[in-house]
Amino acid sequence: MSDKFFELKDVESGTTSRLGVSEGSIGPAVVDIGRLYRDHGVFTSDPGFVATASCESKITFIDGEKGVLLYRGYPVDQLAANSSFLEVAYLLLYGELPTASEQSEFAGLIMHHTMINETLLRFFNGFHFNAHPMAMVSGVVGSMSAFYHDSMDIKNPEHREIFAHRIIAKMPTIAAAAYKHSVGQPFVYPRNDLDYCSNLLNMFFAVPCEDYEVDPVAAEALDLLFILHADHEQNCSTSTVRLAGSSGTNPYAAIAAGVSALWGPAHGGANEAVLKMLEQIGDTSQIPKYVARAKDRDDPFRLMGFGHRVYKNFDPRAKIIREMCHKVLTQLGTTDSPMFELALRLEEIALQDEYFVEKKLYPNVDFYSGIIYRALGIPVSMFTVMFAIARAVGWVAHWQEMTADPSTRIGRPRQLYTGPTERDYIAVSERD
Ligand code: ACO
Repeated sequence: MSDKFFELKDVESGTTSRLGVSEGSIGPAVVDIGRLYRDHGVFTSDPGFVATASCESKITFIDGEKGVLLYRGYPVDQLAANSSFLEVAYLLLYGELPTASEQSEFAGLIMHHTMINETLLRFFNGFHFNAHPMAMVSGVVGSMSAFYHDSMDIKNPEHREIFAHRIIAKMPTIAAAAYKHSVGQPFVYPRNDLDYCSNLLNMFFAVPCEDYEVDPVAAEALDLLFILHADHEQNCSTSTVRLAGSSGTNPYAAIAAGVSALWGPAHGGANEAVLKMLEQIGDTSQIPKYVARAKDRDDPFRLMGFGHRVYKNFDPRAKIIREMCHKVLTQLGTTDSPMFELALRLEEIALQDEYFVEKKLYPNVDFYSGIIYRALGIPVSMFTVMFAIARAVGWVAHWQEMTADPSTRIGRPRQLYTGPTERDYIAVSERD
């Protein structure tokens, strides 16, 4: 707590409260409103958490006005240019970049947890072939709590660490099993001799009847996308993991809650929605019509992949992914550039439009990511699953930070009650 404070006066009663202020290392300070109810009998209200810090954290920082994103202090563009997904995972989990030996030890640990229990694998047969992969992934991740319950003491730091390694290692395996189930192909077991993303691509696209060689360009592109999606402060799914985890629930169940929160189109589901939207728009001549619809208050259509609660400037991740699109599409020699051209033109038109300028609506991380996933051969329904694999690192880092903190209390918001006041029960025979 700093020596600054806010003084709040209740004009009616004349009572005042001194509200303490905590300063972070960067970013806005935080006013402690915990005493307001005790001193004045009122709650505060901030639906959507527009100006409310839900916790203290040392993991990720965003400056939405300047378009800055830092993981443990390192700018995401520097990490994207120089690091790897597993190195970023280590950084987010442990707070520092690993030494060379720590890095190889960590990669070894992750790659030796990649298999999932055979029984868990059979769960997929219970799903219809066209079940949405996010439904399968959230169900199977939640089911992991049944396999690791008695051996999981959340107060034990070693147990927490093994949990972190297991989730990061097994998410690609679960995702690949969901994909293989949806296309009716046999499951391909993980290969621990491959790097994280090459193993993922192999599990997705290898089949037992012929050789499959992972394209290093594809593995590199996926690794970069995963770095950019690894964490994003107290976003909807991360806050969900924290809130579920704050009750002391099994952490696999908390991660499953995060997968479910990510699925929605206002959050991680936007990458799937963007591709569907671009397909719907079809070609550049149709853009003005759809931009007009997005601006029409009476039309529910929105430009998917546009706008962000925190970024009121370019999402730094979107800029990197847009540049990456050029490179990946050229290197992979795909025929998907019309889709990219359409996205570029849509961005250009929207960013010149008064409505988007005034509301500070810029492309977000999901606007271009789907174009790359598609170029890698990943089906549209799997896009949000790819996001979940990467974001699992952030979820685990935040769950670890919260659970290791002895001052953590169960998350329990209050409300403004506007329902009926107290009334007596009426027997059914006496109701009109
Ligand atoms: N298209 C058209 N108008 C938009 C859009 C959009 N994509 N996004 C916001 N607006 C408008 C709203 O209608 C609102 O207008 P109003 O002030 O006249 O009512 C204004 O901009 C503010 O928007 P809100 O929805 O109030 O902003 P909020 O911060 O609550 O929502 C969100 C942010 C959910 C990201 C929103 O911009 C959106 O729905 N975008 C499209 C979905 C998307 O891309 N989601 C991914 C986000 S990134 C991520 O989670 C990985």
